Amino acid sequence: MKQITVLASGRGSNFQVILDCLARGEINGKCVALITDNKEAYAIERAAAADVPVVVINFTDYPTKTAYEVDLFAAMKETNADLFVCAGYMRLLGSEIIQAFAGKILNIHPALLPAFSGMHGQQQALEYGVKIAGCTVHFVDEGLDSGPIIIQKAVPVFDDDDEQALDERILEQEHIAFPEAVALFCDDRLFVSGRHVILLPEKN
Ligand code: GRF
Repeated sequence: MKQITVLASGRGSNFQVILDCLARGEINGKCVALITDNKEAYAIERAAAADVPVVVINFTDYPTKTAYEVDLFAAMKETNADLFVCAGYMRLLGSEIIQAFAGKILNIHPALLPAFSGMHGQQQALEYGVKIAGCTVHFVDEGLDSGPIIIQKAVPVFDDDDEQALDERILEQEHIAFPEAVALFCDDRLFVSGRHVILLPEKN
């Protein structure tokens, strides 16, 4: 069974669906910690309700990002996780962390990558005028939302959509795609070959 550490900065709805899937035995893992960069994150309450230990490394208490990342890196190592899940973790991870945990960090992005990386993927899609939007679960590499893609889910964009309507439609798919990807990782079914993630058959 894989040990999972979640990184989250805010609301934590993706964290919650992963906790729910773990509780129902739909993911072969255990959430061993929540690490947050924001002492106000609602994700902290979700962790407490599920008896998941919380580590707060409050970004704004640090003089520099480098100083913050020293403590973040130490906390990540300390959890001894097999997998790190960025569930609305709103900062780029530094290269030392990414190299140390290469192939073990997943992220969810609210757009169909490689389009609309970075902040506010949904709004970027809306402004661009695309007819199909969606979400992407991917491995984290040193670029901005650029690692190998595991799962994507698409949704239509309607003419009268505002940002909130599109956010909600995409979020619904995030809540399906993310636990699916975490479950596949925990079953050792993701094989990465360059940019390609190959889905291995289920073991009997
Ligand atoms: C999601 O839209 C996710 O794609 C993005 O940040 C948002 C986090 O939402 N990375 P939540 O905290 O999981 O509710």
